[in-house]
Amino acid sequence: MRLALAVFAFTAAAGLAPQTDRPPASGVSIYHPHPHHLWNRLYGALFVRSGPDGREYGRDRADPLLWIGSKFLLQGPAHDDAVRVLTEFVETPGETLVGDPLKRAVMQRDLWIVFDWLDAPHTNFLKPPLSDREVAEGVRRLRGPLATVIARLALTPDQIRKLPDNYAAAARAGAAPSGLFDSAGPWVSVGRADGPTARAHAGDEGPAKNSTFLVMLRLPDGRAATLAFLDRLRAFQGPLWVDTTDNDLRPFSPYYPNPNLPQFPIGTRVALVRRALVVDASGRVVASPLTENVQLRTYDRVDAMNARAFLGAHNTDEGMFSTAGQRFEELRWSRAALFAGRSGGLAAIAQDERDFLTFSAKGFDILDRSVENASRTPQLAVVTHMCRDCHGAPGVYSFNSYLPFRLLDGRIPQAPARLSELPIADAERIAVGWKEDRAEWRALKDLWPR
Ligand code: HEC
Repeated sequence: MRLALAVFAFTAAAGLAPQTDRPPASGVSIYHPHPHHLWNRLYGALFVRSGPDGREYGRDRADPLLWIGSKFLLQGPAHDDAVRVLTEFVETPGETLVGDPLKRAVMQRDLWIVFDWLDAPHTNFLKPPLSDREVAEGVRRLRGPLATVIARLALTPDQIRKLPDNYAAAARAGAAPSGLFDSAGPWVSVGRADGPTARAHAGDEGPAKNSTFLVMLRLPDGRAATLAFLDRLRAFQGPLWVDTTDNDLRPFSPYYPNPNLPQFPIGTRVALVRRALVVDASGRVVASPLTENVQLRTYDRVDAMNARAFLGAHNTDEGMFSTAGQRFEELRWSRAALFAGRSGGLAAIAQDERDFLTFSAKGFDILDRSVENASRTPQLAVVTHMCRDCHGAPGVYSFNSYLPFRLLDGRIPQAPARLSELPIADAERIAVGWKEDRAEWRALKDLWPR
């Protein structure tokens, strides 16, 4: 009896309580070497899912596997488990178990993404759908404790400033291009004065609403050439669209983008950097130096724009439009590598790496839906092919921050974005302001402990 009590006292103090109906995600040891540590169990309860094929998904993935249509976390054993672990975290209190500011910032970010998902619409469920009442109840039980833990993990502004620059570490290790954020170097941070640049990534369809996005452009002839290109792009006066004259192609698209837009030279590179926002101890949104993800495209070939190229960029069949003239790369973060100090936690994905579509997937829960496949295995897509789907047009015509030609769905805007150099600090300020204006942020503020 005494021994059992002593064991309980030890496990509780170390956050290793053994009680749960749902087995902890096997061997998740991201926040602590011990898989049963409370921080690992909390992370595992929210991020790690098992598919209908019996396999585990989502371990150390930047974004949780949560879509508009996910029932996961809203009901059933996963929901009960999440409530139980969160309650334990609030009562322990779990935030005292890990002091490292980096881990606290990353855990806060992980929880905040789940909070925002809870606050977003829930629909498109696999049958049988959850009722409104079930959804409301599932959301209600989670959001209070989540808000409490998010607040308790908050760092001071000074601690946030001192978080490591993991991108710089990745560049030093040769895992990422160097000089990306050097304000005098060849990469230019590009933006628009009227709001966040990466609207599609940051908006309602994407999971990434708690991030700053930096759009970076680098022409092969250096910074001055890149700035001059942006000036020419802004000064472009011609119509954005011209009529398709080829009778065979006109039925498919009566117009295509003006072929006289200033064009990228071969060797141009573009990057999209996603950095974490965090909430500080006084309840303010702050841009952190933590780089979560970097997407890169390099133009090895720049074809002419014409009606055929425009249609080709819309045809996502393999072979019809093979490479878009670009090399697609993505550096993703791994918490495990980040905490272990391995190349800033960023590593390039393989060219044939497959992943879930969490961006524009119409909100269906791909894991739930995979019960409909004979194999019950989730259908994953090759990541670099997804890049091509949205960035298939030649050169500047695939510069989606300027005009997302591929995503227009028949709406044809007459004016592209007015892009110019935007210092990174300004891009961060705009991202923070945008976030603080959003409903899901006000929902969190309402629950913020006073
Ligand atoms: C669902 C469509 C979609 C997919 C898939 C997609 N992107 Fe994008 N991408 C966009 C849009 C739209 C923008 C413009 C910024 C915004 O609104 O978020 C963009 C912006 C970018 C930028 C900044 C420069 C620019 O073109 O504006 C880079 C770099 C980039 N994407 C790389 C990639 C890479 C690499 C992949 C694959 C790993 C990828 N993208 C997948 C839609 C997509």
